[in-house]
Amino acid sequence: MTTFNFPKNFWWGAATSGPQTEGRFYKPHANIFDYDFEKYPDHFWHGIGPDTASNFYNDYKNDIALMKAAGLNSVRTSIQWTRLIDDLETGSLNPDAVRFYNAVIDEFIKQGIRPIMNLHHFDIPVELLHKYGGWESKHVVALFVKFTEKCFELFSDRVTDWFTYNEPMVVVEGGYLYQFHYPDLVDGKKAVQVAYNLQLASSKAIAAFRKLNKNPEGKIGIILNLTPNYPASESEADKAAAHFADLWQNGLFMDASVKGAFPAELVDILTKDDVIWDATPEELEIIRQNTIDYLGVNFYHPNRAQAPKYSSDSLAVDWIPNKYFEEYEKRGVRMNVDKGWEIYPRALYDIAKNIQENYDNIAWFVSENGMGVSREDRYFDAESGQINDDYRIQFIKEHLYYVHKGIEEGSNCFGYHLWTPIDCFSWRNSYRNRYGLISVNIHTQEKTLKKSAYFFKELADKSSVDL
Ligand code: BG6
Repeated sequence: MTTFNFPKNFWWGAATSGPQTEGRFYKPHANIFDYDFEKYPDHFWHGIGPDTASNFYNDYKNDIALMKAAGLNSVRTSIQWTRLIDDLETGSLNPDAVRFYNAVIDEFIKQGIRPIMNLHHFDIPVELLHKYGGWESKHVVALFVKFTEKCFELFSDRVTDWFTYNEPMVVVEGGYLYQFHYPDLVDGKKAVQVAYNLQLASSKAIAAFRKLNKNPEGKIGIILNLTPNYPASESEADKAAAHFADLWQNGLFMDASVKGAFPAELVDILTKDDVIWDATPEELEIIRQNTIDYLGVNFYHPNRAQAPKYSSDSLAVDWIPNKYFEEYEKRGVRMNVDKGWEIYPRALYDIAKNIQENYDNIAWFVSENGMGVSREDRYFDAESGQINDDYRIQFIKEHLYYVHKGIEEGSNCFGYHLWTPIDCFSWRNSYRNRYGLISVNIHTQEKTLKKSAYFFKELADKSSVDL
């Protein structure tokens, strides 16, 4: 057995979001998932919607105490646009939300946990989607920036760590390509514009932060799901497919956020295909000037890509990125069977190398990594009264091995956050996949530390792991 030590002040923590934990109490607006649930409850696992979630709105003190018991020194959640803002056009505030987020931030600080605030976790107000087409509209970009300004004015005296978005590519893919988030469209042209507008909104929010931030320690970044695309074979066609998938899924937001410009090769392809976004020189200058201070990387599983099997003429729509690549599932690999995701921890090392070699070794942390398991009560142990989630402990250890290897080779990685502190509601999967260090009984709201919580506490206290 070898002991692997991590740097001093390493962020040992976990991530979640407002809409997945708080419950819908006293919210002036519905987000797209609230609306989706009201209209189509059967879209959601067992018809369980976001109304109560894990009841963080009412139970936040107890939840934060449990997070402390699990050893977390930093926790990410998000401020909900649909909760904080009363009038979405003027940006007037909901006083109850101001009280609530102040209380949450103060409680984290009191417990010695660094609060990290994200400003968008897929949760656009549904009325902005119906009225303006959501992220297709630059007016919505302006309204989002107004919301972020309020956040910086209200909370940046105590919150030093900010992120503009969680996984913007999921907004694009879920809503406009693969139909797993409302509005469930398949429209490549709109997807391209939405991607651009999301980046523009992120850069404009960063510009607002630079003006309004009250804390000299304050920093702002973006959280990207930087899932590497490995080619299915060494053939030139498969390698080209994986290269395009990387440009689209990773390069688009990564280059714009870190380097201030979209990848020229991607822009050329989108221009040639006549789907390029509508952008002005002034906007591109804002993107150029407002790059991030640091980066969050969510990683769950690798992607494998192969050359498309059919000609693009057979696509049912005018244009989608899959004109250039298809997902490929490798046989004989380790899987998280419940979630259907391949387990490939070495990808975290490849991500570290990519950031080191191609993105100026910018400071970054693993902002989400985790293992979703369904029917986790299978692993309940009556004697200890806890869920014995040894598979999660193993998963964390294996991923940390590669994070450590990256750091040893000079990667500027400053933390590891698990998804998620307490089992939480998740979009259409609702409570099917449990990821937490702490379990929640969705009928009684009772919360209990799992075996992994005790493991995590030791890990965080020692800042080292034995492997
Ligand atoms: C992440 C998202 O990509 O995946 C989270 O940021 C989400 O919001 C998590 O909950 C797990 O997804 P799921 O669908 O398995 O619960």
